[in-house]
Order: sequence, then structure tokens, then C-alpha cells
Amino acid sequence: MCGIVGYIGKEKTTPLLLQGLKRLEYRGYDSAGLALSINGSLTVLRQKGNLDQLEKIVDHDKLDSRLGIGHTRWATHGEPSKRNSHPHTDCSGKIAVVHNGIIENWHELRDELIDSGHEFTSETDTETLAHLVEANFNGDLKEAVKKALRRIKGSYAIAVISSEDPSKLIAARKDSPLVLGIAESGIFVASDIPALIDQTRKIVIIEDEELVEVAQDGYQITSGDDVLIKRDSIEVKWDIEAAEKGGFADFMLKEIYEQPSAIQDTLRGQLDEDGKVNFDDLLLDKEKIEDIDKIFIVACGTSLHAGMIAKLAIEKWAHISVEIDCSSEFRYREPVLSDKSLLIAITQSGETADTLAGIRKAKEKGAKIIAVTNVVGSSITREADGVVYTHAGPEIGVAATKTHVSQIAALILLSMFIARQKNGLDDSFFQKIAESLSKVPEKVDEILGKAETIKEWAKKYHDVYDFLFIGRGVGYPVAMEGALKLKEISYIHAEGYPAGEMKHGPIALINDGVPVLAIALKGKVFEKIVSNMQEAKSRGGSIIAITDSDDNQIRALTDDVFVIPESDEMSSAILSVIPLQLLSYFIAKERGCNVDQPRNLAKSVTVE
Ligand code: F6R
Repeated sequence: MCGIVGYIGKEKTTPLLLQGLKRLEYRGYDSAGLALSINGSLTVLRQKGNLDQLEKIVDHDKLDSRLGIGHTRWATHGEPSKRNSHPHTDCSGKIAVVHNGIIENWHELRDELIDSGHEFTSETDTETLAHLVEANFNGDLKEAVKKALRRIKGSYAIAVISSEDPSKLIAARKDSPLVLGIAESGIFVASDIPALIDQTRKIVIIEDEELVEVAQDGYQITSGDDVLIKRDSIEVKWDIEAAEKGGFADFMLKEIYEQPSAIQDTLRGQLDEDGKVNFDDLLLDKEKIEDIDKIFIVACGTSLHAGMIAKLAIEKWAHISVEIDCSSEFRYREPVLSDKSLLIAITQSGETADTLAGIRKAKEKGAKIIAVTNVVGSSITREADGVVYTHAGPEIGVAATKTHVSQIAALILLSMFIARQKNGLDDSFFQKIAESLSKVPEKVDEILGKAETIKEWAKKYHDVYDFLFIGRGVGYPVAMEGALKLKEISYIHAEGYPAGEMKHGPIALINDGVPVLAIALKGKVFEKIVSNMQEAKSRGGSIIAITDSDDNQIRALTDDVFVIPESDEMSSAILSVIPLQLLSYFIAKERGCNVDQPRNLAKSVTVE
């Protein structure tokens, strides 16, 4: 995830910025940079790779600065490279900007700025902002930033400096965190508290749509409608470990709570309200998609479960047959592929060896390849014809959570995209799905607000030997994911099963008190799953339901029930997986397990 640090004060800036950026390293990044105001001009230093690479080009003796901004970049638009790393500057090199977030309308702004003579040097959305500030600059940096931000759609935390107005640093935020740190020697700006904790514990939280002008000896916050806001600092008592986890007990829990914004960021800029999907890096046009007669999906583990939802969506909406396989099987079987086949490979890390091998196999047969990944510049992005990015930010917990829900969101978009090219469903259909998707982040928030209920369940169920998860339709992959999450972090034996298959064998596992958790979603298989729950109950199972149907029939049948908000069929997979993530998490904690680093598992599986 990108990180921002800025400083204005009496001390030398460079070591302070580097130290702050170092504190943000744990979040993952691919390049880093600094912009320093020195004797009336800006010096910009940027490097691909880690901070050691940046430090190699820093000559502390020559960099005598009291104002500067720094950034660690996690690529979203444009590959990880020196020229795409922040800070970005305007044409004159007198304005420098660091940015976290996504500027949705950067294409149109960039075209407009190029038409009026601005020259761009990177592939990033952020550079647009530097030129936009330049276009509005009249000697007052704050005014220029304010005007520039009025043109921006999307999310941002920014810090901006100019050699033409060197007594201030301007920062602002919308949907991306930003804080000030008040130290003896001056004032810091940062995207996250850990960046500041070595220097100060006096923190001022900047709220959404606020802009702040920071000088050596003070700061002035203004709201979006230009009203002056008085806000004092708070004292943070966190140690560095707690600060890195944002006050959560573990990275996994933090990442579970980051899911509303991970989904929002994945939808942002890729879906408009009319249900039109825009993928910057897809590189497959209408004709190529029209030509496709069969789709294959390959992935592993949690990514495979997201793929199972995509299969349902594509077949239902685009009427193309989809085969899905785990990558380790696909690579050694003889799938019937041709140049009319499309392979969708899903991998959050972009490095999974089996999935890469699956791609190569499909390519040999002439298939077109789309990768769905969270990591710009990862191996898979270099091997695929086109890429769809999830914008979940780096995930530190080994168990995938926010990357998984972002995959489902991105795959729903991809399914919409393919359906639109392929069979001309009417616009109102896509509009309805878009409307429903746009409400998913707040519904996830609503579910997370009821986490205490699940915590209570964990006390009741943490010492069982077996746990069964059942579902039908989109509930089936969700059940699979629930079982995988539970086994990987709590080491309880768990099975995820299609509910209708239970009677063909697994029902023999059920006896008194074995928990059977059903994903019971309204729709054409609702009554069927209710019957399957009945079958499990009559064999002594403890029945738990995750459902969007708060009715007496379900209440009468269950020992525990969690009601999720209603949504469209496909995105209800996102909503119903959240309680399962929480359940695994709380059960694992009850059992004293290390949820962030479960035994025998790695975040990125680069070997066969
Ligand atoms: C489970 C989990 C794994 C990964 C699998 C594939 O929580 O994270 O099952 O989903 O190893 O990884 P990627 O998506 O990186 O290919």
C-alpha cells in the first residue's frame, strides 16, 4: 500500500522522511521517492525497489532541506518503475505531489492537460494532479491545490509542495487516511501513524474532504466547503507493533475491516453508474471477445472459490460455457483449448507457480489470457494478454480476505463486461447490477458492525473436531471458502460441500452437535437448502445459517442465525463470506492460533 510522509520544520528533512518511510515498509511497496525544497528549487529523488535503493542516491550533505515529501509506492496505474514512482512533478519541476488512492477521471484530465500543452513523463494517475495544480497556480499553493481537487473524481490522500511557495506544505484527503504529527521541531504529514511514531505521539486526524495548510509552527484545516476547522491533537499510546496493525490485534482482523474500502477501490474507476465497465489494462476488444466460444478459469485455493462465482455469472449473463479447474490439475490434463478459447487466471499474488503454468499451457494452444490479480507488475501480468486489477492493497495476513472479496467484485465486473460484448443484455440489467454493487461496501460495513455475534459463536464452537459448511448456487463456493478459512487458521477439520451432495456420503459425518453451517440465500435453491438443513438437523447436527432471509422457518431450524443484507445474487457471495471470515478468525483466536502466519502456509506459493 502506498505510504506518505511529509515534513516542514527546523530539522534536516531527509533523514526524517526516510525514517518515516521505513516505518511504512511492512505494508509492502515497489518503489520510493523524495521531493525536497532546497534553496528555491525542488530536488526529486526516486528509485524502483526498496528504500535501500533510494538511500544509495541520497547525499545527505548536499540535501540541506527543511521542507519535503516522501512516498513508498504500491503500483496501481503503471508498472513499478522509477518514472512511475512518486513524487510526481509538473512541467516546470516546481510543484511536487505524492498521492495515495485512485483518480478515476485521470484519462480525461490528462487528455485535456496534454491539449493545453502539458507534458507527461509517467503512466500514473497521480501525475495528472501535479499538472492540474500547475494549471491553477497563481502564487498561492493552497488555492491551486483546492482548485485542482475540485476537478478530481476518486480517492486521495495527498501532500504537495512548491519551490514557488516554500513556506508551506498542503495536504488533503478523500477516502484515504491522512494524519498530522505535531513535533517540537516542526510538523509532519503522513498517511499512517506508524510513520510518525518515532518523532511524536501528538497526532491530528484529518477527516474526509478536508484540506490542511501546514507551516513550521502551525496548521490550518479547512472543510470541503471552506470552513475553518479547529481540531487539537490526540495522544497515541500505541507501540509500533500496535500502530502497524492500526490498533487491531492482528493483520488479518485489520484486513477483514479494510474490506469495504478494498471493494470500493476495486469498483472505483472500473464501473460507472450506467453499468459500463472500463478496464485500463484488459487489451481485449469487442471483436476478440465476440470470437470466444469457451472460457476456462484456473486458480488455486481462495482464488479458485472466487473463480467459481465468476463461472456462475458468466454462464448466466453471457451464455458462454465455462470450465473451472484448480491450476495444479489443469496444467497436467488435456483440456480442449483453441484460439477461440479464453483463459481467466486468478491469483492475488500474481506469482502462483501452478497458475502460471496453466497460462503457459493455454497460450501454447492459442487461447487468449486474462489475468485477475492484485499486484501490478507481478509475473502473471507479463504473461497475460490483458489484466484486470483488484485494488485491495497489499495483504499481510497469510489467509486471503480482502483480496478475495476484491476478486469477486472484479470478476463480477469482468462477467458484466463479457456479457455486454457477447449477448446484448439490455442496459437496465447492467444498471441494476451496478447499483447493487455500489451498495456492497456499506453492507459489508453493516455486517462488520455485528462481529460481536460471531465472536459469541466462536466461544461455543471453538473446540469441535469437525465443521461442515454447505451451500448451493453461489452459496457453494462461499461454503468452500468458509471451510478453507477455518481449516487454515484454526486447524479444525472442515468440509465445504454442495448441500445437495451431502446425502451421497458426507451426511454420515453428522452426529450430535457437529456444526453444519448453511449459506441459505433467497433465490431458486432457497427451499432446497432449507430441506438440506432439515436433513442435517434430524441427524443431530447443530445448525447455523448465514442467510438473507430473516423468517420463522429459518429461525425454527437453526441453533444460530446471522442475517446479512439482501443483494443481487452474485454479490451476495461477498456479503455471506464476511461472517465466515470472522468466524474462522474468532475460533482461531479462541484456540490460541497465530492467525497471521498459520503453520505450513506461505502468502505466495511460487513452487509447484
Ligand atoms: C487461502 C489462501 C490461498 C491462496 C492460494 C492462491 O487463504 O490465501 O488459498 O488463495 O494460495 O494464491 P494466489 O491467489 O496468490 O494465486
